[in-house]
Amino acid sequence: MVPVKPLGKLRLGVNIDHVATVRNARGSAYPDPIRAARLAEEAGADGITAHLREDRRHISDEDIDRLMEALTLPLNFEMAATQEMQAIALRHKPHAVCLVPEKREERTTEGGLEVAREENQLAHFIAPLAEVGCRVSIFIAADRKQIEAAHRIGAAVIELHTGAYCDFHAEGKFAERDAELQRLREMSAFAHSLGLEVHAGHGLTYDTVKPVAAFPEVMELNIGHFLVGEAIFLGLDPAIREMRRLMDEAREESAVA
Ligand code: PXP
Repeated sequence: MVPVKPLGKLRLGVNIDHVATVRNARGSAYPDPIRAARLAEEAGADGITAHLREDRRHISDEDIDRLMEALTLPLNFEMAATQEMQAIALRHKPHAVCLVPEKREERTTEGGLEVAREENQLAHFIAPLAEVGCRVSIFIAADRKQIEAAHRIGAAVIELHTGAYCDFHAEGKFAERDAELQRLREMSAFAHSLGLEVHAGHGLTYDTVKPVAAFPEVMELNIGHFLVGEAIFLGLDPAIREMRRLMDEAREESAVA
């Protein structure tokens, strides 16, 4: 069941949320996330990801308006499954809508969406988005039950949450990290076998990206926080190019393996 060769080019979606975080820390107009999006395109990004949170802590409504106007790359619009966000997505019709769980008090998106528990509601929620042409993606943990539910509700894409894998790596818990990586690998293959397109992301760094990039079924990685951090030291363009290089290297190595 598990294909050995990569199934296609691995796309890089650059998440620009934390350019807006830095801007908002001072209530200024800079650094401008739209400028970062343009730069990301020049550096080899295949898409831009932005999360409009309920509390607007980083990306603003105006940022989404401007991205939709200025971007030539596809926008992956991350949002919670709320009526407010659905109305915004239906107005803009971005290339993709990625549904994420959202808690006001969390620092970042913790864990994946509970699809299995809210299957009927989510099926109704995504239907109009798919109807206007958005590719609907569901951000979930590497869990068979959630993947099956995402498939049943008619999602086109799942994005696997790599946060736990990256956290274990950072904490030096290598046995747990490797077990989580194995779960991600198996669940990528499983989701693909159901006909879902598989993406992955959250917490990825230069140290953790290659094993995930090597999964043959993964078609897109969405990466933000680490790249914005590296941009302080290297500049955004070289930081993205290095991530792209590591992803391509992992893909080539897995193709000859
Ligand atoms: N994918 C999803 C669904 C996310 O919510 C996030 C974080 O906003 C990312 C990818 C990117 O994670 P990071 O900023 O840690 O690279």
